[in-house]
Amino acid sequence: MLAVLLTILFFNQGLSLDNRGTSFITAFPENIAVYYGKTYNLFKITTLHPDTTISVTYMANGIVKTNTSLSEGIVWTLNLTKQVEESQLMSSNKTFRITSDKNITVLSVSGWEGRFQSHVVQPEQNLGNVYLVPSLNYNNIVKSFNLMMTSDVRFLNFRLMIINAVDMVKRVTIKQVNEMGQSQEDTITLNPYNLYQIPIDGLVRQINAEDKVAVILTHPCFDSNNCSCNMILNQLQPYVSNSNNDRFLVPPIFSARQLLVATNEPFQVCQSCFTPETGVWVQTSSDILSLLQNLKNNISVISTTIQVSLRLISPGLVLDLIPISKFSGCYLVDLNSSCNAALVIANTSSTDAVRMNDQKLPTNIIWRVINGTGYSCALVEGGRISTIWHPFARIGVYMIERLDSNNTYGSAATVINTDPDNGGCLLTPEIFVLGEDEMNWFKSREYCMENADQFARLNNESSQAKMTLSMTRREPTEGWISLRRSLYTTDWYWRNEDTFPPNVDFTYWENGQPDKPEKGLCASVSLDPSKKFKWRSARCCSKKKPVCYKRPKYFTL
Ligand SMILES: *[C@@H]1O[C@H](CO)[C@@H](O)[C@H](O)[C@H]1NC(C)=O
Ligand SMILES: *[C@@H]1O[C@H](CO)[C@@H](O)[C@H](O)[C@H]1NC(C)=O
Ligand SMILES: *[C@@H]1O[C@H](CO)[C@@H](O)[C@H](O)[C@H]1NC(C)=O
Ligand SMILES: *[C@@H]1O[C@H](CO)[C@@H](O)[C@H](O)[C@H]1NC(C)=O
Ligand SMILES: *[C@@H]1O[C@H](CO)[C@@H](O)[C@H](O)[C@H]1NC(C)=O
Ligand SMILES: *[C@@H]1O[C@H](CO)[C@@H](O)[C@H](O)[C@H]1NC(C)=O
Ligand SMILES: *[C@@H]1O[C@H](CO)[C@@H](O)[C@H](O)[C@H]1NC(C)=O
Ligand SMILES: *[C@@H]1O[C@H](CO)[C@@H](O)[C@H](O)[C@H]1NC(C)=O
Ligand SMILES: *[C@@H]1O[C@H](CO)[C@@H](O)[C@H](O)[C@H]1NC(C)=O
Ligand SMILES: *[C@@H]1O[C@H](CO)[C@@H](O)[C@H](O)[C@H]1NC(C)=O
Ligand SMILES: *[C@@H]1O[C@H](CO)[C@@H](O)[C@H](O)[C@H]1NC(C)=O
Repeated sequence: MLAVLLTILFFNQGLSLDNRGTSFITAFPENIAVYYGKTYNLFKITTLHPDTTISVTYMANGIVKTNTSLSEGIVWTLNLTKQVEESQLMSSNKTFRITSDKNITVLSVSGWEGRFQSHVVQPEQNLGNVYLVPSLNYNNIVKSFNLMMTSDVRFLNFRLMIINAVDMVKRVTIKQVNEMGQSQEDTITLNPYNLYQIPIDGLVRQINAEDKVAVILTHPCFDSNNCSCNMILNQLQPYVSNSNNDRFLVPPIFSARQLLVATNEPFQVCQSCFTPETGVWVQTSSDILSLLQNLKNNISVISTTIQVSLRLISPGLVLDLIPISKFSGCYLVDLNSSCNAALVIANTSSTDAVRMNDQKLPTNIIWRVINGTGYSCALVEGGRISTIWHPFARIGVYMIERLDSNNTYGSAATVINTDPDNGGCLLTPEIFVLGEDEMNWFKSREYCMENADQFARLNNESSQAKMTLSMTRREPTEGWISLRRSLYTTDWYWRNEDTFPPNVDFTYWENGQPDKPEKGLCASVSLDPSKKFKWRSARCCSKKKPVCYKRPKYFTL
């Protein structure tokens, strides 16, 4: 039975790290201690589109909270009590399902007085069935850090929360490997949207589920400097087999003490070099840092021969490093207190181009070169909520919190779009759409104004190419565009609703077109043998489908 489950490995290709979605599942782990009443939990749900409806269901009591017709750029903060935290190592229904009719992003926040530890909740499409678990042994880590162990005895393990993301009973196989290298598999059953919490103690290596699950690595009170501790929440990324090289930049601010990798295939890794093939071999899930020299004084870039998840461990912190392959064009950061900041990593040659909302970064920002990498990093303090984006290059952004004991806590910021765009955080790209029904040219114009942004205007080669691309995705056909000729002068002009000049500098007429004015004063595009959608003149009263244009939509706050 177990063998059957284990052989079904799914290799998700091209898994996106875009954090927008319409369906999310998560849970709140124990923060500090179940008896420590001062902590609370929050969701910060951000709308990206106008007129968005969101529902949050707490599976433990079935209560649904709905918020309708929210406009874009609104943050719905749901303040939840300590009671929603799950401290028990067992099966539980203390999970939250968040669904919406349009894309949103979700942060879960574990709070305590002035402290806000924020984590991006991954949308359902970023979840998977197979997860590799880093081999984290609490005692060993705390000993190697020379920390005073303040934790309660019952906190001596890291934990995993495995959350069923589907509405069906599913089984999950947990593979453990002990110090002698012997492996053992256990199967648990998860009810719809329920979770199971297990201790990991360095032995659990892999999770194989029958269907999508969310997996959260957590610790209620990870000892940090100065006799304090932090709750840890680290949502694992599903396993993806990808044998491309990758690189990780380790920003000095996190004072890395260990780098931990989870892998089930050997790979090579090296520090401060660009050809990982010269590096040392890593065979299994292990601490790769012990293999690398001089980390504390000279940490910059770690190169690997395959794509892996690399976790940075320092007192009170377990952080997924954003690999350069997953750098993105636009992030959302929600900075609550004055102790928060965003850490931005950008190509040294274009740090000037980094934007916060629609502004350049404040002039007092200090960029520090990450030695030998071509990248620089900077701490940016800013407004409460903002976008940080780059018009043409991918960047890395972390949300940082400096906690009371002077420890740095952090996690990756919310990705709104992986691709950079000159206009900002692109939500939906520009597109030409064909109306459903045939109608005359005048009605077509009205139709486009009502159902899109414009009647199609093909004023240059690039618009023509984009229109052709959009049209060929549909049944090849013909349609009206906003070009017409004057009754008096018979000159062609673009019938614009805006201030755009009406003159026709670019044309794409079919051979023998346009026809004589008496054969038609309007223009259409139609599929020709070369599939180019060339232009023809036509009688304005004849019936064709309208070709409309929708502008690109950007996220603004
Ligand atoms: C919703 O977000 C996903 C990325 O997670 C994106 O691919 C998709 O186009 C978005 N949908 C809309 C309608 O914006
Ligand atoms: C959640 O679990 C509790 C305890 O097992 C149970 O009493 C309750 O009925 C469950 N709630 C739902 C909605 O299933
Ligand atoms: C919906 O969200 C808005 C914006 O955050 C908030 O002011 C309002 O109280 C919320 N409504 C409900 C029913 O929670
Ligand atoms: C959330 O509620 C708790 C108590 O219920 C309160 O102490 C805390 O200040 C609230 N947090 C926010 C951000 O509203
Ligand atoms: C960092 O390490 C690299 C490779 O080991 C070495 O070449 C370089 O000089 C070191 N830089 C510093 C500042 O120590
Ligand atoms: C932090 O969030 C809480 C609740 O959302 C809000 O009351 C408070 O003003 C925020 N603080 C800052 C500095 O933005
Ligand atoms: C970069 O290297 C220079 C010397 O080569 C050193 O002074 C500086 O501290 C290093 N910066 C970082 C961020 O490691
Ligand atoms: C930084 O950008 C420049 C110019 O686009 C490019 O030549 C260089 O390769 C980039 N550096 C890195 C480390 O990607
Ligand atoms: C230890 O933490 C306390 C507050 O919790 C702070 O006042 C003190 O400065 C910290 N000491 C060090 C050495 O970080
Ligand atoms: C806190 O961190 C800052 C910057 O790293 C350092 O200058 C300061 O001495 C630290 N404070 C304590 C109390 O450790
Ligand atoms: C083509 O025209 C559109 C406006 O309709 C403009 O946004 C775009 O930049 C132009 N493209 C080129 C390559 O000139």
